[in-house]
Amino acid sequence: MPEPIRYRLALRTEVVGGWRFDLTAIEDFEAAVSELAEAIGRGADARWFEELCPMFGVIWPSARALAERATTLPLRGRRVLELGCGLALPSLVAARAGARVVATDQHPDTWTFLEQNLQRNRLSLDYRSFDWAGPLPDGVDERGFDLVMASDVLYAATMPELVAASFDRFLAPDGEGLLADPGRPWLQDFAEAARARGLRVELDAEGETWLLSVRR
Ligand SMILES: C[S@@+](CC[C@H](N)C(=O)[O-])C[C@H]1O[C@@H](n2cnc3c(N)ncnc32)[C@H](O)[C@@H]1O
Repeated sequence: MPEPIRYRLALRTEVVGGWRFDLTAIEDFEAAVSELAEAIGRGADARWFEELCPMFGVIWPSARALAERATTLPLRGRRVLELGCGLALPSLVAARAGARVVATDQHPDTWTFLEQNLQRNRLSLDYRSFDWAGPLPDGVDERGFDLVMASDVLYAATMPELVAASFDRFLAPDGEGLLADPGRPWLQDFAEAARARGLRVELDAEGETWLLSVRR
């Protein structure tokens, strides 16, 4: 594994549905990627590049769109799971709305940021390290969530099937999934992979960000 990256950080303020969130984020994504590439160039295995790419540390526009959508849902007491959460703005909104939230991601640095941001915003949720291709995390029930959500998680050819499988795995029988995406080429593949599993996929909203609704 390459030496740990000391990210340059910035405090970002996001306002969603009238709620303010102050979040520690990576200041400059491109600079963090260059630093990782340099660390790998110093001898670490190149496969770490994909695994440790610091995409988790930035709030992507799809996260804002999903978080806004989450403010329109009745979430108090509902069970909510976020996949590939990164800085987890949609999960923070759900937690503030009174949902029981489990945020998940595979990147090893996600929790450090999320823990700090939860404290800063006086919120609480559960976090589990979870790779879509991996085993079920402790305390997380299959088909156990009223809302399963993910934003900007379709940027490699393997992802549509893995993300569709995760929606299928965690959605409760009468649950709803929401997937936000900036319109990447793999969005259609995701819809097809989900439909192939018997899930219903519908366009929930379209603009700069695409929002798909996924149900059984
Ligand atoms: C572009 S970022 C989006 C982060 C956040 N959802 C947002 O929209 O701001 C993609 C996220 O997916 C996570 N990810 C990528 N591959 C994954 C996998 N196989 N299992 C779980 N998370 C994964 C990354 O670690 C990263 O946090």
